[in-house]
Amino acid sequence: GEHAGRRGGVPSLGLVDPPAPRASLGLVPTMGALHDGHRRLAEAAVAANDVVVASIFVNPLQFGDPKDLERYPRTLDADASLLDEIGVDLVFAPSVEEMYPGGDPLVRVTAGPLAEKWEGASRPGHFDGVLTVVAKLFHLALPGPVAGQPAAFRAYFGQKDAQQLAIVRRMVKDLDFPVDVVGVPIVRAEDGLALSSRNQFLSDEERRAALVLSRALRLVDARATAHEPLEPDDAVALIESQPGVELDYFDVVDPDTLEPLAFNCREAPFTGEALAIVAARVGDVRLIDNMPLKAS
Ligand code: PAJ
Repeated sequence: GEHAGRRGGVPSLGLVDPPAPRASLGLVPTMGALHDGHRRLAEAAVAANDVVVASIFVNPLQFGDPKDLERYPRTLDADASLLDEIGVDLVFAPSVEEMYPGGDPLVRVTAGPLAEKWEGASRPGHFDGVLTVVAKLFHLALPGPVAGQPAAFRAYFGQKDAQQLAIVRRMVKDLDFPVDVVGVPIVRAEDGLALSSRNQFLSDEERRAALVLSRALRLVDARATAHEPLEPDDAVALIESQPGVELDYFDVVDPDTLEPLAFNCREAPFTGEALAIVAARVGDVRLIDNMPLKAS
């Protein structure tokens, strides 16, 4: 190949068979407790790449509350067989000691102002912890000198965590990571609830109450499709009228900057694209959801 000998330090003398065409590589970072949302990410990676690596690592750096970290569900055996069944080639499931030998890293990636609002406002340090582990995973997934640089390196993230996706894209852009970030649409249960490993902590009654979040998003989405003013106030009122649900935020934002839309979405007809985002506490479970809006 044209790069033979450059990375490996073994110059080709024409005595060996030419190397096989370089493979594309897909990476699917997860914290395990896999559900159909993760499955969709892995399937997208398998469909588009020659080799797929999934990681399973409950990253202590991104948890503020030690109790939250401790109760995070861990189902490694079931996760590994699911990934195998989907066609993932390699599962990387390091221990905390393997990922952070010698304790927490001294040098970290900072997410900056994108991490200060929405989820970041109630989870200080969370996105720095996410970026630090994602940067490590990007480096660890890249093959060594013998296999060489992949023809393409793609990493798969769910649109479910819209702020995480925006911040990872921004890190890749600002710090020139050699990776294409692929965003995968939210997978929902039949009743509309966005799949999350935290849903298992909801009682039946809490789960019913939680449905108000996707209902509120659909209300705004229907208006966007019809080019009507969005009137997020109605969606906010709907959520606030639901017993057992404590609203943190609901807003309509730019999908890249996460800034509230500049135009007056209460009065002006909606055009273009935006993202409706919501977070609420149901019992002691914090839920997030969002919906891309597009005037059709
Ligand atoms: P985790 O919560 O396990 O999620 C792994 C990936 O699955 C994320 O990109 C997330 O957005 C995606 N995902 C979760 N639920 C989804 C759903 N209902 N539909 C579509 N995609 C969904 O996010 C993390 O782990 C961590 O922060 C990580 C990126 C692995 C870094 O530690």
